[in-house]
Amino acid sequence: MTPKAILSGMRPSGKLHLGHLLGVIENWKKLQHEYRCFFMVADLHALTTEYADTARISRNTIDMVGDWLACGIDPDRSVIFRQSDVPEHAELHLMLSMLTPLGWLYSCPTYKEQLREQSSKDLKTYGFLGYPVLQAADILLYRAAVVPVGRDQLPHIELTREIARRFNALYGPFFPEPEGLLTEAPYLPGTDGRKMSKSYGNCINLSDTRDELGPKTNAMFTDPKKVRRDDPGDPSGCVVYALHRLFTADHERIAAACRAGSLGCVADKKAIAATLDGILQPIRERRSAIGEQRIRAVLENGAQRASAVARETMQEVKRLTGLAL
Ligand code: TRP
Repeated sequence: MTPKAILSGMRPSGKLHLGHLLGVIENWKKLQHEYRCFFMVADLHALTTEYADTARISRNTIDMVGDWLACGIDPDRSVIFRQSDVPEHAELHLMLSMLTPLGWLYSCPTYKEQLREQSSKDLKTYGFLGYPVLQAADILLYRAAVVPVGRDQLPHIELTREIARRFNALYGPFFPEPEGLLTEAPYLPGTDGRKMSKSYGNCINLSDTRDELGPKTNAMFTDPKKVRRDDPGDPSGCVVYALHRLFTADHERIAAACRAGSLGCVADKKAIAATLDGILQPIRERRSAIGEQRIRAVLENGAQRASAVARETMQEVKRLTGLAL
């Protein structure tokens, strides 16, 4: 039996950070062994919000795919491709838009939230309202059974299922209803204690060198009541300790030493810098061996493999909807 298909995508946000590694990439790496995986750069989705300033989209695509490869997303196992290289995404998006009621889109929680949060941009556009329809097209084009996503994306998976049901009811059973696979990522604070996110500028990037890590770990929030090195501290609100819990095997010992006042924050920050460097160093090494030519070749090959599936789906969609001659 051929394994089930998975599709997941990321908007081209540029260099990846530790949050992506823990929340997404580690999961994708595992799934590669169990499913037929399609990993997509959602560059058309980027356009829905960045249409007025597109200067960085292609550079961000190259940077992001370079990081995917360096982390171990394997182009021999998985289809790594760019949404805009497979025109069937736009074609199926249009077909699905015909049967998607506006009410479903206006009431989508991410729509309302993004309009509020990104108020500096004019997002009252047709394309932005249709963001989830484009995502449904991404998923249904590969007849994916499973879609690994973060919690914020679940409404889009639900809409995809509704759109698939509506298509199937109108034209005949064709699209499988995909299941969302929740990636339960542990909470990862950035250097300032807020969630690690590019928009907060508080990230540890996968490309950070040892020299770049030092100032970042030094700036991390610790227990404000621990003033002197030998004051007893409380690790529970400390960013450095939150990272130890995720990345340091004997973090219990560190917590105990902090509480006892035998571990100062300066030494503790040095320790977490060394631990993180140990994780990033092999990724950095692989990344530096991957040139832009290689990344372009991977995307070209991925586009061909994705297109083969996408073309088949569109043929069937045209037949079922009565467009085929
Ligand atoms: N909307 C997703 C995000 O912002 C990215 C995405 C686009 C996606 N198409 C997809 C994710 C298809 C899963 C499946 O993270």
